Amino acid sequence: MGVFRAVVLSALLATVSVGQDAISADGTNFTLAGDNVSYLFHVDTESGELISDHYGAPVDDFTPPAFVLPWGWHDNLANLRREFPDVGRSDPRLPAIHIEHPDGDTVTALLYKSHQLVQGKPELPGLPATYGNDSDVSTLQVHLYDNVSDVSAVLSYSIFPKYNAIARSFSVTNNGTGNISIERAASFSTDFPNVDLDMIEVQGDWSHEFNRVKRKIDYGETTFRSTEGFGSHLHNPFFALVSPSTTETSGEAWGFNLVWTGSFEATAERFSNGFVRVLFGLNSLHTSIQVKPGESFQSPEAVSVYSAEGVNGMSRSFHDLYRNHLSRGKQTHKTRPILLNSWEGLGFKFNQTSLVRLAGEAEKLGVELFVNDDGWFGVEYPRQNDTLGLGDWTPNPQYFPDGLGPYVAQVNNLTVLNSSQPMQFGIWVEPEMVDLNSTLYNEHPDWVLHAGKHARTLTRNQMVLNVGLPEVQDFIINTVSGILDSANIQYVKWDNNRAMHELSQPSDSYNYILGLYRVINNLTTRYPDVLWEGCASGGGRFDAGLLHYWPQHWTSDNTDASDRLTIQLGTSLVYPPSAMGCHISKAPNGFNQRNISIEFRGHVAMQCGSFGLELNPEELTEHEAAAIPSIMAEAKKVNPIVISGEFYRLALPDNSAWPATQFVSEDGSESVVFAFQQKYTVKPAAPAVKLQGLDPKARYSNDLDNGTYTGATYMNGGINIQWDRADYQSKLIWLKKQ
Ligand SMILES: *[C@@H]1O[C@H](CO)[C@@H](O)[C@H](O)[C@H]1NC(C)=O
Ligand SMILES: *[C@@H]1O[C@H](CO)[C@@H](O)[C@H](O)[C@H]1NC(C)=O
Ligand SMILES: *[C@@H]1O[C@H](CO)[C@@H](O)[C@H](O)[C@H]1NC(C)=O
Ligand SMILES: *[C@@H]1O[C@H](CO)[C@@H](O)[C@H](O)[C@H]1NC(C)=O
Ligand SMILES: *[C@@H]1O[C@H](CO)[C@@H](O)[C@H](O)[C@H]1NC(C)=O
Ligand SMILES: *[C@@H]1O[C@H](CO)[C@@H](O)[C@H](O)[C@H]1NC(C)=O
Ligand SMILES: *[C@@H]1O[C@H](CO)[C@@H](O)[C@H](O)[C@H]1NC(C)=O
Ligand SMILES: *[C@@H]1O[C@H](CO)[C@@H](O)[C@H](O)[C@H]1NC(C)=O
Ligand SMILES: *[C@@H]1O[C@H](CO)[C@@H](O)[C@H](O)[C@H]1NC(C)=O
Ligand SMILES: *[C@@H]1O[C@H](CO)[C@@H](O)[C@H](O)[C@H]1NC(C)=O
Ligand SMILES: *[C@@H]1O[C@H](CO)[C@@H](O)[C@H](O)[C@H]1NC(C)=O
Ligand SMILES: *[C@@H]1O[C@H](CO)[C@@H](O)[C@H](O)[C@H]1NC(C)=O
Repeated sequence: MGVFRAVVLSALLATVSVGQDAISADGTNFTLAGDNVSYLFHVDTESGELISDHYGAPVDDFTPPAFVLPWGWHDNLANLRREFPDVGRSDPRLPAIHIEHPDGDTVTALLYKSHQLVQGKPELPGLPATYGNDSDVSTLQVHLYDNVSDVSAVLSYSIFPKYNAIARSFSVTNNGTGNISIERAASFSTDFPNVDLDMIEVQGDWSHEFNRVKRKIDYGETTFRSTEGFGSHLHNPFFALVSPSTTETSGEAWGFNLVWTGSFEATAERFSNGFVRVLFGLNSLHTSIQVKPGESFQSPEAVSVYSAEGVNGMSRSFHDLYRNHLSRGKQTHKTRPILLNSWEGLGFKFNQTSLVRLAGEAEKLGVELFVNDDGWFGVEYPRQNDTLGLGDWTPNPQYFPDGLGPYVAQVNNLTVLNSSQPMQFGIWVEPEMVDLNSTLYNEHPDWVLHAGKHARTLTRNQMVLNVGLPEVQDFIINTVSGILDSANIQYVKWDNNRAMHELSQPSDSYNYILGLYRVINNLTTRYPDVLWEGCASGGGRFDAGLLHYWPQHWTSDNTDASDRLTIQLGTSLVYPPSAMGCHISKAPNGFNQRNISIEFRGHVAMQCGSFGLELNPEELTEHEAAAIPSIMAEAKKVNPIVISGEFYRLALPDNSAWPATQFVSEDGSESVVFAFQQKYTVKPAAPAVKLQGLDPKARYSNDLDNGTYTGATYMNGGINIQWDRADYQSKLIWLKKQ
């Protein structure tokens, strides 16, 4: 107690603050203040426990906490709102940190020792994280110590005031003499008071990712997780807590997103006193991470955003934060080339001649980037279908007798329509995977994830390489750089088509993701001009961790435009439309036979940063071929505003037959509205499309009725669209500030 007291007393003498008062420490009462948010917690000076005080709209003072009668079984820590709950010592709720000590017990008492304020934000070694300079972000580090178990921890809080965003992570150091094991690690943990809350998250499966669902936070745990080794299609490492009255445009919303690509666990636990504990971190089934004496464990980062302007306000904060302070690299703020992917046109059946011919067809449509999908590799096991060849990344000599170089030169020799630019070339890889039928597996059967003598179960005939092994990491780095060095390749689609199954130990999946980050960090640093797109059978790995390195992700294998509206708007809850890959595919759609006009398909796809075609140009109908030039021109015209504008969900496809979205340019001079009629009805009439984000007093012209109205008129009166008597109609409307 003596040492601890002395530190607290000396800290009480000075009020320190950095970053335009974004963080202040009044003694050991800590305030993180954003433009529209306050986050307050303090150290209980008697015990050294960290106590949560407030997370929400701005407040000015610390006030006494809610009074809970200390009667019955639950006294002590059980009635406190805790910032970093540990195990044992009277708190029966789930912990943020659970450590198994060398002697086998799991009791931990991490108590306040000291703190420091840091300008800017230190990097997290080996992990993706938000970043910013001294004027963008400030950091508070709180040092904790368990003097019984000789474990120390550093809690890190960084606030980006402009975005009302707080990034948190922690490290644990083993200061003792035996190994410790981290059994549970929640990057974000805080206790809300007794308030009514609902949880919004996205659930789904392959081909229908990102369906928005909402449920009440009742007593006990409201929880979801991934145990697939990756975020998966089933859920995304994102959720929001909202007040029951919160809408898209009004009310309180707290968003949470884990900057992590692996298994995760999200929990909101309401205790008997009504307090709601939020925990977001690693999945405890895939943890058990050994930390040797003198070594540290660093948790991934979790980002939380507070909005008093509804769910859409929360989304816009995430979009802006992620475009400016998460996604690194020069492509993030650039418009993206219109691409055509070979998959729908040729599948596995191609050779150099037929590919160049397809690229030539693409050239006539105005395509700027030709992408060669799966099937281009394999010598001993030529990849003619998905039962063989994965892992053998040598171009199939029967298709490409002179390798990739001369083939790519032929594609580059094509010229983009109405320009003098050469057509770019991109390639598909899935370097984390291997087929049983491959030279790689014959040579390195020990490189795949496996558990002793347990069967190595297959999905899509393939196995997962253990990317936690340094030799596998080097293999992938050398293989992918070899491909990139062999030809003029400007885009890589990096796929990942199955979950992890047998692990030799739970932490294999954690070590895998650290290894993957090492690989991707290496390659994106070495090839900064390549445009990288993540893919995992669609949106199975659409997460903030990969978004740090790669600016875009394929959103779903389902390209049906109607389903895509739900999927894309669900994705936009947390990730910016600029990071989504969206393509026009053939009609009727291969998934559900829905027959949707090419205009509607185009308007759905061009709301994403990376727009393209996933079809065989030779199979276009006359009407489609005639419509393509204006769709391509519109897509090029909207791309800058999609990349850098603010995004508004005006009406959701789940609630309305007339979903609509809007982008407003960064400087506010232009706006573009996408409006849809999914289903024609005689009655009711289509509601007016009420816009957002305009200057109420300014006048804007529109190209629907060619009128000029004030921002207030568009926002409060709305635009009435005269829809045709047909399903799947769409409109793209431009507004220009006068
Ligand atoms: C650990 O610290 C607590 C309070 O901070 C003190 O009461 C206790 O004596 C210390 N224990 C050891 C083993 O130093
Ligand atoms: C958020 O803060 C900014 C800057 O202080 C202010 O202009 C704006 O009105 C605030 N918004 C809300 C919803 O409080
Ligand atoms: C610190 O916070 C505690 C708990 O809310 C409060 O009782 C105390 O007065 C605060 N101290 C200062 C210096 O604000
Ligand atoms: C910090 O970054 C912002 C952009 O996020 C930039 O406007 C500002 O000039 C930078 N400040 C410093 C001191 O580098
Ligand atoms: C624990 O170990 C770390 C790393 O060696 C060291 O920086 C820290 O000061 C130690 N903490 C204590 C309380 O001994
Ligand atoms: C600690 O763990 C390492 C592996 O991480 C192991 O080699 C070592 O034997 C362990 N030490 C003890 C004391 O268990
Ligand atoms: C390439 O494929 C086309 C179409 O399948 C075929 O007609 C042609 O003979 C093939 N060319 C070579 C060199 O294999
Ligand atoms: C896959 O391709 C191989 C090699 O051409 C062939 O032997 C095999 O029959 C094919 N398998 C399937 C399922 O099509
Ligand atoms: C290996 O390839 C052959 C030929 O395509 C296929 O029949 C067999 O199923 C493949 N084995 C596995 C495990 O995919
Ligand atoms: C590029 O096109 C020109 C003109 O059509 C042709 O002469 C040349 O051989 C082509 N080069 C390649 C690498 O295909
Ligand atoms: C990438 O990895 C290679 C091979 O391990 C190494 O030589 C190179 O320095 C690394 N580059 C970066 C930027 O990490
Ligand atoms: C709006 O103006 C454009 C361009 O002058 C014209 O083509 C279009 O027919 C006009 N629309 C209406 C509804 O007047």
